[in-house]
Parts: sequence; C-alpha cells; structure tokens
Amino acid sequence: CGIIGYTPAQTDPNILDVLLDGLSGLEYRGYDSAGVAIADSSLSVYKRNGELSELEAAVPDRPVNGQAGIGHTRWSTHGPPTDENAHPHTDCNGSVAVVHNGIIENYRDLREELEAAGHEFESETDTEVVPHLIETSLEQGADAETAFRRAVDRLEGNFAVAAVCSDIEGVLAARHRSPLVLGIGDDGYHLASDVPAFLDHTDRVVYLQDGQFAKICPSGIEITDESGAVVDMPVKTVEWDPEEAGKSGYDHYMRKEINEQPRAIRNCLRGRLSEIDRAVSIDEIDDLERPERVQLISCGTSYHASLYAARLFRDRGIPASAFHASEYDADAIPIDDETLVIAVTQSGETADTLGALRDANRWGAETLAVTNVVGSSVSREADHAMYIRAGPEISVAATKTFASQQAALAMLSSALTGECSRGFVEDLRALPDQIQSILDRSRAEEVARDYIDSDAYFFIGRGYGAPVALEGALKMKEITYKHAEGFPAGELKHGPLALVSERTPVFAIISGASNQEKMIGNVEEVASRKAPVIAVTDSPAAVEHHVDDLLRIPETRPQLLPILANVQLQLVSYWVANQLGRSIDKPRNLAKSVTVE
Ligand code: G6P
Repeated sequence: CGIIGYTPAQTDPNILDVLLDGLSGLEYRGYDSAGVAIADSSLSVYKRNGELSELEAAVPDRPVNGQAGIGHTRWSTHGPPTDENAHPHTDCNGSVAVVHNGIIENYRDLREELEAAGHEFESETDTEVVPHLIETSLEQGADAETAFRRAVDRLEGNFAVAAVCSDIEGVLAARHRSPLVLGIGDDGYHLASDVPAFLDHTDRVVYLQDGQFAKICPSGIEITDESGAVVDMPVKTVEWDPEEAGKSGYDHYMRKEINEQPRAIRNCLRGRLSEIDRAVSIDEIDDLERPERVQLISCGTSYHASLYAARLFRDRGIPASAFHASEYDADAIPIDDETLVIAVTQSGETADTLGALRDANRWGAETLAVTNVVGSSVSREADHAMYIRAGPEISVAATKTFASQQAALAMLSSALTGECSRGFVEDLRALPDQIQSILDRSRAEEVARDYIDSDAYFFIGRGYGAPVALEGALKMKEITYKHAEGFPAGELKHGPLALVSERTPVFAIISGASNQEKMIGNVEEVASRKAPVIAVTDSPAAVEHHVDDLLRIPETRPQLLPILANVQLQLVSYWVANQLGRSIDKPRNLAKSVTVE
C-alpha cells in the first residue's frame, strides 16, 4: 500500500489534484482501491474500489478547498478490495480519517475492545481500529496530537499511519517499521510512503526513523520521538528527476524500463571500474574486507539476482548461498561476524527482506544492502549500503533493476575477492552497448506472436543460465498470467518433462562457452517430445540446427551472459502480455513493494 499526506502553505482549492497526482506516483505499491480525505472546516472522504481512475471519476468535478489531506492506494491484506475496505477509514463521528500501510497485528483484540465500548465498524480492515482509538481519547478530552500518539502506542506490527482530524490544522503521522518520508516544498509540506508521490513538488526530503512521529502543517514540520521530544532530522536532496519517473511517450513503464537498461548499467558501472589496474573499486564499501562466507537474502526477482551472485562468489572461492528472505529464519544457517549477509532489494523496503536483515544483524553478521533506493529502510539498517543506480522503476515487474543488481553484484564479488581480469572489466563495460544491440534487433515480438496460443512456457538453463531461466518464467507469469516455469535444465528429466508437449514452447539459455553440449542434449530431450524450442544464445551457429527459433545475444563470458539473455526474455514476456492485452504495468494481485511479511 502507499500513503500520502499534504498540507498546502495556504488553503488550496487544488488540494484534490495534488493528492490524486501523489497517489498516481504510488500506484506501483498497490492498486486494488484508492481514497482521499480532505480536512477543511469538516472532513470529506472519497474512496473507491478499483484503480485510481475509479476514484478520479468519483471525486467532485469542482475545486475542493482544503487545509490538509491524506490519501491511500491499497494492496489488500485484511478484507477483499471493496469500497468499504478502501482507505481512509473514519471514526463514528466522521471527524478523524486515517490511512495506513502495513499490518496491525493486534487489531482483533483492539476491535473487540472498541466494539464492546459501542464503536461500530464498517470495514473488515485492521486499519479501522485506529480512528476509533483516536476518537476514544478525543472523547476523554485529549487533544488530537495526544489522541493520535496514544492510538499509535497501542498498535503492534509493522505500519506507517497518517491521520487528519477536523479540529486541527495539518496531518499527523507515525512510522513503525514501514517507510515514511516527508517532503519540504515551496507550496507546502508532503508526506508519503515513497518519494515519487511528491517528486513533482520537491526533491528536499526527510526520512523518518522507526518510532518517530511527524506533524506537517502550513507553518512547517515537527518530528518527535516516542517520548514526545522534538528531534532534528537532516534534510536530504533526492537525485531522481521527475522526467525520468514519467512514461516519456512509451505505452508502458515496463517497455520504457527495459529500454533504459543500457543507461542503467552505465550508471551502475560509472566510476567503479579501472581497466588500467584491472580492478573494481566501490567507494561505498571500501572498508569491507573479504568475508569468510556470504549469504544473500531477497525475494522475487531480487532472489534470482542473488542466486546468480551466490554462484559468482563461489566461483571466486567464497562459500555463498542465496535464501528466500521469508524462509531465512527457518533455515537457521550458522552465522558469525565473518559472515557477510547481503540484502538484495530494489526498493529497500520489502518486509520479508527487512525482517531477514534484522535477524542477520541480531545474529552478529556484517550486513550490506544492495539496493536502488537511497535512504530506504534496508540501506539504513544494514552496516553498509551499495547502490545499483538504476533510477526509478515504476512497473511492478522488475526489469532494469534486475540487470543493475546483476552488474552491481558482479562488481561486488570482484571487489571483495580481488579477483578481476582486464577481460572481465572490458566485458562489463561492453554490456550497455551489447544490450542496446539486443534492443535494436530483437525478434522477441515475432516469437511472442508465434507462440501466443501456448498452454505454458518453460525456461531452462545451466550454471549461470539457471537463475535467468527462473527469472524468465517469473516475468512471464507476472505479466501474462500464463503458466510458466523455469528449471535448471538437468532437472527436466526428473519431473517437468511430463508437462512438455507441442503446446509448451521451451526457451533454452545456451552459452557458447559453458555447458553447451549438455544444453543441446536437454534441447533434444524436449524437441523429441515435440516442444518448440527457442534458443537464447551467443553461439547461434552451434545450436541453430537443433532449435525452432533463435533469439541472439552478443558473445560474452558465461558470467555475464545472464544479463544479456534476460533482456530477450523480458521482451518476449512483454510482447506476449501486450498481445494478450494484459495490464502490463500493474498486473493483478501484485504490488511492486510489498511491505507486509
Ligand atoms: C514484489 C515485486 C517483485 C519484486 C519483489 C522484491 O513481490 O512484485 O517484482 O521482485 O517484490 O522486491 P525488492 O524491492 O525487494 O527487490
């Protein structure tokens, strides 16, 4: 979910537009339903099930005056997406409205208590307890700020909340293990789960810390700690450019972001490679020493980048494994201060990854965040942070951040082990142009059309090609809703082969320099079951007689092949989804940044 708040410097007849624009910058965090509340002399609440366009159609077609407002875009956890479950939620009198991101773990107990005291609830959400708790304190004579603080004190779980009350100026907010950032603009003050919500208004931000409260009002912002003492927080300038965060004429953010990969990788490599002394140097981590072992924790696409990185570290002599962050505590892998735990996360806010990082910190590991978002929770809680510099990624399906994660982790493994050759540096440097040549010549649209009616899509690879096979399948299922699976190619014969037929195209990632013969053997296995095979390869001459179609990539070393092969697979998924008319940037049931465990 995403939350926003705004107090204009003067009562603003365009407050609704500012709030709706803000929500559109956060839609990647959820788009099941959306709502806003505007405080003037009274509170007005507008909320609708469905995407933001439904809310836009439901709000008044005239200026609405307001001195403060909050808004929400939802990815449902408690209660299905309905008008009632959409935020903001209000108290019985309609004088307090609340938006919330995260999970209130003790809401059942609180709700029972409030219902016993006569409060009536309208939704199934955990959030609705908050306005009723605030109302209880207001009725007992507390002022709004005290009532808000008392309500937050009673909540357990991970959450960020914001509230407006009809009897105070401004927006009250609190952060407890879910992101919240304040924006200082010339036209007023903003708060949001993430910077894109207000990037059009300001690039000056304050990142709230866990346990902090904030009040934004026309005269300024005030940040207090748990005890109520005022704290002075640094104001930072974010480097994201609002233009970069827009669609720039593309039909979909995903297409734009796929096409931005050459630039993203160039930015990721900038200043970190030296051909002269054949070295990689990463300023942010120059105090990190070669660890005894490495553990990588992450989710989704970032997990696939971690599988890739674990192999690279092992190749360079450091024992390394990748873990699904949500399973990390269950795995109970021995850890000590010689263990480097790397949290790989585009957003830096994924609750599962943050939870695993906190475990690693508690167990005494040295920790490093590899992330795209400066100031994100993971970057602040890890001992060190390395930035992948991909720029804002809006489409739910990760594309350029995956490429940048792989490039960053390839450099990291080299920097930490000191293993680097001039060839490796040169090949890294060649990646942006190589990706550009794939983008310019890809036949993915044609291939997608040829296989659009398939029952399922399979992806196979070996060695460095295996994680990218998993990623190819993930991308396909995320945005096309078609059945797709990825396997290490050798596993095919141990089960998945039973699914293979003439209606299940198989994408085989084949490196000319590694495992080529074995991969061709696997291709023959599926081809003899009549499955069409599409090779994604840098050695077309060796494989073209064995396959039905080719998606060519420039020749590179096996360690960097996944970065190139993945671009072709991203394009295939994009074109299948496009030809099926899917909601490419906002696939059903998913959200880009999942801040619940
Ligand atoms: C969500 C997104 C995925 C993403 C995963 C991890 O599930 O839908 O695309 O890979 O979160 O996100 P992170 O920000 O931690 O990389």
